[in-house]
Amino acid sequence: MTTAKFITFEGGDGSGKTTQLSRTVDWLKSQGKDVLQTFEPGDTALGKEIRRLLLSGEHTPVPATELLLFLADRAQHVEKVIKPALAAGKWVVCDRYTDSTLAYQLAGRALEDTQTLRDMLAWAECGLSPDVTIWLDLPVEDAALRMQERESGGEAANRLDEEKTSFHQAVYQAFDSIQKDSPQRIRRIDARQSIEGVQADIQAVLGQL
Ligand code: TYD
Repeated sequence: MTTAKFITFEGGDGSGKTTQLSRTVDWLKSQGKDVLQTFEPGDTALGKEIRRLLLSGEHTPVPATELLLFLADRAQHVEKVIKPALAAGKWVVCDRYTDSTLAYQLAGRALEDTQTLRDMLAWAECGLSPDVTIWLDLPVEDAALRMQERESGGEAANRLDEEKTSFHQAVYQAFDSIQKDSPQRIRRIDARQSIEGVQADIQAVLGQL
């Protein structure tokens, strides 16, 4: 019997993450896996409130507040959703996790990357690191083009989507360096490919688990 796995998806806006994640879940199910699809922030009752505080645009949290709210959402999510699902033998596929916090809050908000912050990020995971992380790598310029198309298609942008280009550049650079630091766990997939090409690469990675 295969043991449950915890898989996370990362990628900037416009990288095709939503489409790829749902195709991946369908594929895992077709392989006979019991799968739970989840996301951050906001996939618990409490997290839904935190998500609104973070992303609606109603508030403008200072960087420290923003970081703490994402971590609060994560701890609740890990303890209430992810760990119980893994304990029940499910494969958990999560849209964003700690790598997003490293990229968006530490790098994007230019928080000083201290050991204390690293320890807080680890603490909020409640002992749970992903077995594998799929990073859909899409350069900022390509992402900006796709986002323009998305806007004309009517999909709403959240408060972070609307940050300036330098913010998205910092986020991208951070994902790039996080991936280089942990190449075994974080697998880089070229998101400029066709939907089918990206999905084939993802299946090749997950097939090794
Ligand atoms: P969302 O609307 O869920 O969609 P997407 O993942 O497709 O962008 O957006 C979540 C937003 O929250 C996204 O802009 C990234 C951001 N985020 C952080 O800044 N830090 C985090 O730790 C997480 C999990 C997300």
